[in-house]
Amino acid sequence: MERKEISKAVVTRLPRYYRYLGELIEEGVERISSNELSARMKVTASQIRQDLNNFGGFGQQGYGYNVRSLYTEIAKILGIDRQHNLVIIGAGNLGQAIANYANFERRGFIIKGMFDINPRLIGLVVRGIEIRGVEELEKFIVDNEVQIAALTIPKTKAPEIAQRLVNAGVKAIWNFAHIDLVVPEDVVVENVHLSESLMRLSYRVCSMQEQQEEKEREERLEERKKPL
Ligand code: NAI
Repeated sequence: MERKEISKAVVTRLPRYYRYLGELIEEGVERISSNELSARMKVTASQIRQDLNNFGGFGQQGYGYNVRSLYTEIAKILGIDRQHNLVIIGAGNLGQAIANYANFERRGFIIKGMFDINPRLIGLVVRGIEIRGVEELEKFIVDNEVQIAALTIPKTKAPEIAQRLVNAGVKAIWNFAHIDLVVPEDVVVENVHLSESLMRLSYRVCSMQEQQEEKEREERLEERKKPL
């Protein structure tokens, strides 16, 4: 299948398609139309057709999409059809929570090791993953062909560790520390900020409340206008 440049917006939506297609496979569904997928995903059918047309013509008139080929193709595009070795820097609450989540491995993300500076944590094992001292970081990265590092350390420590990761050959940083990292062009950073997501949720819930209040105000006004 020819690989075209896919826009960032489409790539952002692909994991969601992948999740739904995985559920369809589990249900034994072999093909699905854009309309059926649209009803499930609450995305318009034309958006689905547009998105999926970006990487080849799977959808056939009157047949729909072959669920498994689409699933496989999206996995290829996302690069989750291969293994990515990962380390976690910072084995505190968040680092350990990530290490405890077994599902990442199903997607090809293998957590090879965890690192911390706290001597009380070093040597502990979380779901089979040993916590090591950060002084071992560079050698471990090279020996284990680590591509991705999750940063779950305080923000003040993040730039220095990011620099060490990059120097050791890490190509991607999954950054949970609340700081914007400066890295070379050939290194990618994905920032994950739960609090930003919560703020967006707060905005949406507030505007919904405001709309509801406005509606109620208008209804009261209408009510008053009615002749007695
Ligand atoms: P925590 O205090 O439980 O864990 C931080 C760990 O980092 C500690 O074990 C500490 O010893 C270790 N550490 C400190 N300096 C280090 C260094 N130079 N090298 C290696 N390890 C080092 O904190 P928690 O709750 O796990 O949070 C970790 C970070 O993630 C914090 O910066 C927090 O603000 C951030 N965070 C981000 C979230 C997000 O959505 N992006 C959500 C929750 C936390």
